[in-house]
Amino acid sequence: MKVGVVGAGTYGSVLINAYYGAHRRGEIEFAAIADINPDTLKSMDEKYGIKGYTDYREMFDKEGLDAVAVVTPDYLHEEVVLEAAKRKIHILAQKPLSTDIEQGKRMIQAAKENNVMLYVDFHKRFDPAHIQLRNAIKEGKLGEIEYGYVCMEDKILVQSGLRTGRRTVRRPGSSASISLT
Ligand SMILES: NC(=O)c1ccc[n+]([C@@H]2O[C@H](COP(=O)([O-])OP(=O)(O)OC[C@H]3O[C@@H](n4cnc5c(N)ncnc54)[C@H](O)[C@@H]3O)[C@@H](O)[C@H]2O)c1
Repeated sequence: MKVGVVGAGTYGSVLINAYYGAHRRGEIEFAAIADINPDTLKSMDEKYGIKGYTDYREMFDKEGLDAVAVVTPDYLHEEVVLEAAKRKIHILAQKPLSTDIEQGKRMIQAAKENNVMLYVDFHKRFDPAHIQLRNAIKEGKLGEIEYGYVCMEDKILVQSGLRTGRRTVRRPGSSASISLT
């Protein structure tokens, strides 16, 4: 499977590192990275030797990707998702999919129309510790759950601009920790 990443910032670089590992193990072909910042691409090239594009559309057109991870700021997911869907590229979009419900609907619609997968990266669902807790509850190992407590681990701020000239808006965050008694 040929994979690309759009957005090599704070979280994109985490994914890039993981994809590079998968690439080296022969599990995927990590083809290219797109970021509007040439310095970011230069540092990624130095670290991983993965080809970089400042225009993700050019990457889509030239690389023949099967799948792309969209790791741009929340408010910029839509344009990348729509361009990928149009080219029949499967999409892993970062959470939250969008900060605007209509944008979210347009992305889902585009994925359906183009018959591509659009998955939101709720990777905690695959976290062994979370799975273990879920299984323990399902199997009745913790008895009957009578009370649950969920709390936010992060600030309720999301990015509303690029980091250069960063602005934030107050919106619900998305990380939570859960305790059950
Ligand atoms: N799944 C998770 O657990 C998790 C964790 C952290 C962040 N996120 C999400 O990841 C996304 C990115 O967050 P971040 O903290 O890495 O942001 P960031 O600002 O650190 O990185 C964003 C990157 O996107 C690049 N970019 C912006 N516009 C672009 C465009 N048009 N084309 C190509 N590149 C472009 C920027 O240059 C920057 O390098 C957000 O949606 C965030 O909510 C998800």
